[in-house]
Amino acid sequence: MDQSNERESSTTCASIPSSSIASTPVRPDYQEISVRGNRRMTTNDLELLDKTAREIGAKTIVEIGSMDGCSSMVLGQVAKDNSGMLYCIEPYPKGKWATNMIDLGLNNNVLLIKAASPWLDWSKVPAPIDYLLIDGDHRCSRAICDYVAFGRLVRAGGRIAFHDIDGGKGVALYVRQAVEICERDDNLSSPQGADYLIKQIARTPEARDRGTIVFEKSAEAVLI
Ligand SMILES: C[S@@+](CC[C@H](N)C(=O)[O-])C[C@H]1O[C@@H](n2cnc3c(N)ncnc32)[C@H](O)[C@@H]1O
Repeated sequence: MDQSNERESSTTCASIPSSSIASTPVRPDYQEISVRGNRRMTTNDLELLDKTAREIGAKTIVEIGSMDGCSSMVLGQVAKDNSGMLYCIEPYPKGKWATNMIDLGLNNNVLLIKAASPWLDWSKVPAPIDYLLIDGDHRCSRAICDYVAFGRLVRAGGRIAFHDIDGGKGVALYVRQAVEICERDDNLSSPQGADYLIKQIARTPEARDRGTIVFEKSAEAVLI
């Protein structure tokens, strides 16, 4: 995939040697993490996940789709810094995912649920969830399914991020459709039940591919 669209991060990030990542309390080197995770996420994606998860002191974090662990490295560090846990739902984790978790000293704060959403043992899924990343099966109906199935477990004031919203073809089209439908339907006043009332709070600068959008659940959101 073309990485040439990756833009410079708007914020300067602390640059730290890989050997000190595990113990450092400062923000991670997003560039290094992107490379370690086979550039599944850009530095902008990683910075946005990091910032929006830290802002709410996320302790219970769920990630759907982990692959090489690019997002797991950033969200795992947030969980670790908050004495919490990152739950990674992934049917086919790469060997690199496990290596990255060990290299960064995250294995006590990251739990793999080796299954495909939504066909998993729901007793393993925590609730309430502070922060949810949807980056698994990118088909429109599947992304909506992840949102509906897991979004209900996100607490009021918690956050939901979708990855891969940029680009003119392929998965981005499906994910954007999914995001539009979720955003529209959950803000409808409907006799069918509780709305989750999400509102967009952040997005990476538009790019040729990748891209992350983050929503927050309203304080009035109803858990059903
Ligand atoms: C784009 S990659 C995720 C990248 C990852 N977030 C990162 O930053 O490295 C998508 C992943 O979703 C996984 N996946 C596909 N269908 C899934 C499902 N139903 N539930 C969970 N993960 C799924 C794939 O195996 C793949 O590893």
